[in-house]
Parts: sequence; C-alpha cells; structure tokens
Amino acid sequence: MKHPYSIDPWAIVEAGFSPEKLRESESVFALANGFIGMRGNLEEREAAGANTIEGTFLNGVFDSEPITYGEAAYGYAKNHETICNVMDAKSLLLVADEEALDLGLCVVMAHSRTLDMRAGTLRRRFLWHTLSGSSLDVEIERLVSLTHQELAAVRLRVRCLSGACAVSVVSDLSPAVIAAGDPNDPRNAAGKDRRLLTVSCGAQGPVLTMQQHTKNTGFTINCAVEHRCSLPFSTRCGADAVTWVATRELEAGDELLLEKSICYTVSRAGEADALPQAVDGCRAAPDFDTLAAEQRAYLDAFWEGAGMEIDGDDALLQGLRFNLFHLIQSAGRDGKRNIAAKGLTGEGYEGHTFWDTEAYILPVFLYTEPQLARRLLEYRYASLPKARARARVMGHPRGALFPWRTIDGEECSAYFPAGSAQYHIDGDIALAVRDYFLVTEDLDFLAAYGAEILVETARLFYDLGFFSEAKGGRFVLNCVTGPDEYNVMVDNNVYTNAVAEENFRSAAAVMALIKNRRPEDYVRLCAALDYAPSEADDWLVAAERMYYPPARDGIYPQDDGFLERKPWPLDSIPAEMRPLLMHYHGLTIYRHRICKQADLILAMTLFGERYSLEEKKKNFAFYDSVTTHDSSLSMAVFSILANEIGETDTAYRYFMSCARLDLDDMHHNTKDGLHMANMAGAWNCMTKGFGGMRCRDGTLCFAPVCPPQWKGYAFRVRFRGRTIEVRVGAEGASYRLLSGEPIAIIADGQTLTLS
Ligand code: BGC
Repeated sequence: MKHPYSIDPWAIVEAGFSPEKLRESESVFALANGFIGMRGNLEEREAAGANTIEGTFLNGVFDSEPITYGEAAYGYAKNHETICNVMDAKSLLLVADEEALDLGLCVVMAHSRTLDMRAGTLRRRFLWHTLSGSSLDVEIERLVSLTHQELAAVRLRVRCLSGACAVSVVSDLSPAVIAAGDPNDPRNAAGKDRRLLTVSCGAQGPVLTMQQHTKNTGFTINCAVEHRCSLPFSTRCGADAVTWVATRELEAGDELLLEKSICYTVSRAGEADALPQAVDGCRAAPDFDTLAAEQRAYLDAFWEGAGMEIDGDDALLQGLRFNLFHLIQSAGRDGKRNIAAKGLTGEGYEGHTFWDTEAYILPVFLYTEPQLARRLLEYRYASLPKARARARVMGHPRGALFPWRTIDGEECSAYFPAGSAQYHIDGDIALAVRDYFLVTEDLDFLAAYGAEILVETARLFYDLGFFSEAKGGRFVLNCVTGPDEYNVMVDNNVYTNAVAEENFRSAAAVMALIKNRRPEDYVRLCAALDYAPSEADDWLVAAERMYYPPARDGIYPQDDGFLERKPWPLDSIPAEMRPLLMHYHGLTIYRHRICKQADLILAMTLFGERYSLEEKKKNFAFYDSVTTHDSSLSMAVFSILANEIGETDTAYRYFMSCARLDLDDMHHNTKDGLHMANMAGAWNCMTKGFGGMRCRDGTLCFAPVCPPQWKGYAFRVRFRGRTIEVRVGAEGASYRLLSGEPIAIIADGQTLTLS
C-alpha cells in the first residue's frame, strides 16, 4: 500500500504539500497536551485549492444548548454539549514585498512538515522564491508543552538566501473559523454555529490578548500571546481580532527570528478573571529551546516505559508509535478532563468521552503511565453526583448511571436506543477500577475513589436486573444495548451481563478488603454510602446466578434474540452501502442478524476462562461472518481473539487494518479527528494479542507468538512499580526486568522470576 507520509520510525514526514489531503494531515499533525489541542493547520491558515478545518481546543471546555426533540419524552437527555473551537493563536502570515505566502499561489519548493514523536514538535520548512526575486528559507516550529499545561509556543526563522526583500510577519489572535459539520453523518458535528462570543481583545506591548465567553456554560477562555522579537513592531486591535506586525528588510545572509509564547487559561462564572494569569503566563514562559528540552525529557521518560519495536516492518512501527504519541498527547491529566473519542485532534463526536476511555485507552495507560490512568478514573469519580442524578431520572432508586457520551458528566446522548441504553458503561468503568488496582495495588485510590464507584455501579446493576422465573431464577438484565450498536435494547447482552457480574464481585471484594486493611475508611464509606454488608451478599448471589444465553449448536447468541434475527449475508451488501448506519434506517439494521462490533468476541477476550478453546474457535468463525466492523473499535478485538485461538494470520490481518488506520486514512474520516480507541486497540493487539499478556490473580502472564511477517518484536510494560521488557522472535521470547524489585511472571504456563 502507498503510504501518504514517509516511513520513519520516529517521525511523520510529509515531503511536498498535498492540498487535497490538508484536512486529513491537519489531524495527523495535531499537537496537544491533555489540555490544549492544536490541529496541524498551516500558520497562514489557508492555501488556494485546499480545504482546511481550523481547530484549537481546550479539553473540557464546552458549550451546551437544549436538545430540540420533535417528539420529546420523559427522561431524554436535555442538553447537548459540544467542545469549543477557541481563538486561534498559532497563526503567522508572511508577506514578502506585498506578496502574501500562499502554498497554492506562490513558488514554494521543498515544502515539508515533520511531526517528531521524540521531540514532541511539529516542524515545517520550505524555500520561497518570491515574485520580487528573493529566495527565503523558512522554518517554523510549534509545540504544545507537555510539561506546562497552559503553554504552547511557535518559533519562526526566515533566512534570506539570495536577493533582497522586505518581509513582514503578521501574527494575530482571532476567533476560530467555524468548520461546516456534516448533518448526515452522526459521527460528525451536526452543523455548528459560533458557540463563543469574543468579549474583548487588546494589546499590552508585544502581548496580544483575547477573552471569549461560551454562550451557555459560563466559561471564560483567555489567551495571551507574547511576541519575542528584536524588531520594532506595531499592533492593531479590531472588533474581533488583534494583530501584531513587524517588518524587516532582508538581504542575502540576513535572518528574521520570532518566538510566540502562548498561554491559555479558563475560568467559570463566579471565579476570578484569569486573563492576568494568561498574560503573566506567556511573559514568564521559558524560551522555545527550554520548552523543547523539557518536552524531549518528558517524552524520553514516556518512551522508556512504553517502548515498542518491530523488526521487519518500519511502517507498522511508525504507526504504533504514532498511536501512542497521540494517546499521551490527548489524555486529561488533572482528574477533571478526560479523553475524547477523537482526542484533541478534531471535532468528530463533538469532543465527547465514551466507554472508549475505560475499555480501550485506559489499559494502555495502566501499563505505561499508571498515574494518568488514575487521573482518568478520578474524572469519573468527580462526575458521580451527576451519575447518581441520572440514575434517579432513569427510575433507579439507588446507584449511579454514568453517561454514554458526555464532556462534563451529564448524559448528552439524544438517541437512546444506540446511546444511553448502553448500560455497560457502568461495568466498563467498574472493570477499569478493578484493573487499576490489580496493576498498581494503589489502595489509597480504592479507599478515596474506587470503592465508591464500584458500590454505586453494582447497586445500579442490581436494581436494573431481577431474578427471572422464566429463566429458572437466574439474574437477568433486560432492555439494554451492548457495545454493538446494531443490536439495540436487547435482553441479556452477554457482554453487559459479564461486566455486571464482575462489577458485583469486585464491589463486594473491595468493600471486604477495605474493611480489613483500612477500617477507618470502611466506617467512613459505610456511612457516606449508607452501605450494609448484606448488599454485598445480594450482589454475590446475583453474580453467581447471572444468566447467559445458552449456546445453540455451539454458537453463543450475543443476546437472547440474536440468532432469531433475519440473516443478512455480508457479501450481499454493496461496498457503497457501508457503513450501514449511513445508508439504512436503524430499524432495518436492528431486525437483522448483523453486528457493527461483536460483543461475544469482546466478552471472550475479557472473560476467556469461561469458554473452551473449541468454543472460541467456533464462535470466532461465526461472528467473523456477521460483523461489518463499521466501528473502528471492532478490529482490534477480533485480532486479539484470533491470536488466542492460534489464527495468527487472521490476527495479523485484523491488526494491520487498525494499526495505521489514521495514518493511511483507511476510514476516510481522519479529517474529523483521529480514532483514539482504535489507536489504543492496536496497542492492545500487540501486548494482549501477539504478546498474549493477561493479568491473572495479580500475576502478569504472557503467551507470545511472532507472526511470520516480522523477524521479531518487543514491548515494555509497567507493572506494580516495575518496568518489564518482552522481546519475541521466531525462536521464542525473553523477558527482562528493566527497573524495580524482582517479580514472578508466568510465561507460556511456566513461572519465571525476573530480577
Ligand atoms: C462505536 C462506539 C464508540 C463510538 C465512539 C461508535 O461508532 O460504535 O462503540 O464508543 O463510536 O468512538
């Protein structure tokens, strides 16, 4: 396959300029730090003949408005939240003797953009032959600081190679241009208007400032940009934008240098004005070189624990590192912000957080940056009050129901059949709490946050289900939607029942553990949660008697009615009718036996001990034949189970369709932002799929295989304070303890002690 970017193990390089691909490359070249996200827009914003989607986002900063339903009914989500595209501070317009730089109109040679995944910078370079006969060597670097949440920086260097000309640099701070959504694509922003009002802009010497308000949510967004440059400058303030300009006459050998230091701050209604803080922040910011050195050190430490190698496929290795790089850039770090389905790279899915976080992304951080995993769970903890309120609206007197999609914890899903009916979100979060504890043994977290989440989610499931006479007294969960959005409001979705069972068991176990190890916390929790140990007894009975639809001829239905639905052979669906959700009414899809992503396969990867190898093989073949993979979350799961059942070729094929999905724009929607869960899914394929990694009863187990396409591969994981490297080749695997105390692991069934 022809790749759009050069293959380089540590960089994404676009040599030349592809105007027709600008919107996609803007997502690929996005920079972020968990708070600020900047799409890889050209500094001059536009190029003749190219479409752009301009974007700067602040994680967790959103506006909302009431959802207008044609036929409203009780309990529908009330408000729609959408991430704000805030004022743009990264722009620079170059003018040489009155000729404005435009890649579509000017004579520009050797244009390149490089996303350096070790340096954490985006570098752009080109030669500009101006109409007035000069040659200018232009280099622009940009970074969004991974060590200072509120800072970003841009550095410009223009060198005159020959001729002489007057070069003006125009830098402005202006409201984002609003990108057109696609009202026919539910995955995209459905037609946006301007959500932000610019309330002030101004200049204080070389510092430009702007303040914007969200219309309805009471956020004030402040931005200040200091221009560090030895040239005389002027500033101009319009109604809606403020501009800094400097000009220098350049002759051969002369150089023009400018650094922009950018600071974003946010306050909510009733809080102190945070604009002075932004001004001070950009003035006090370290220079570009210092920020770049800190950035490099941060990423060195990250790659130290998250390293991956593939011997024999550089394109793949590039894709895997690209995925990890964007994941670490996008995750909120302060317990108040999460990670959106598209990270901070685009407006697809409106900046909403889904189960993607706990089911796909959190496992990556759990084994590479456990502190970050904890922050993401703290975000859920912070939204417990809203989840409790939502549970009451939904008729549950106890427990908490987390939102299917949200920014600040309020349910925003306007289409409940494939949205808020996905009760498994509670189980996904509970499972993540359990796994966080298993991998880190962080009892403080359990006592302060985790136990409360587990108890409230267990209560919700207990209230949702009942012991059904029709099912021989088994505990059933009816009328829910599993992750598979092509089978909605079903009874006994196997995945939902499995996570609920696990939720019951871990809530009971954690309360017992806290009683034993932290008696004071236990007393506090019992009082705060009005918890009685008899609740845990009830949960354990429900767990023991959880109902799972029985197999028919060896095939497990993923819900009670799945096998009764009308068959819809995949090969009868023309390519132009995919994804189905874009071409068929939901009801057409829901009455067929077809999956968007297969819940039974997911259950088999997570709860593998419940099924025999033969059952896994047989069910894999069946669900493989009825799954469209219309969700980018699907393929990784199939790849992991294919590995487990020894179908390495199939595992490899599925893996290859997710590992570089965004770099190669395989789903034709990279322009709307990168697919974070799929990117994390690729990491899960490497470690849990090919590496066969599982955490069983607190012990890390591996069962690696090496696909014949590679000579070998390696990955690193952090586990209980250790860093472990797994290296796999055709001849077998080796394990190395890189840091931490000796630890026992299980490799291919044998216990090994690493020291
Ligand atoms: C998938 C969901 C996912 C959402 C956001 C949908 O297409 O079906 O499972 O949570 O995308 O990534």
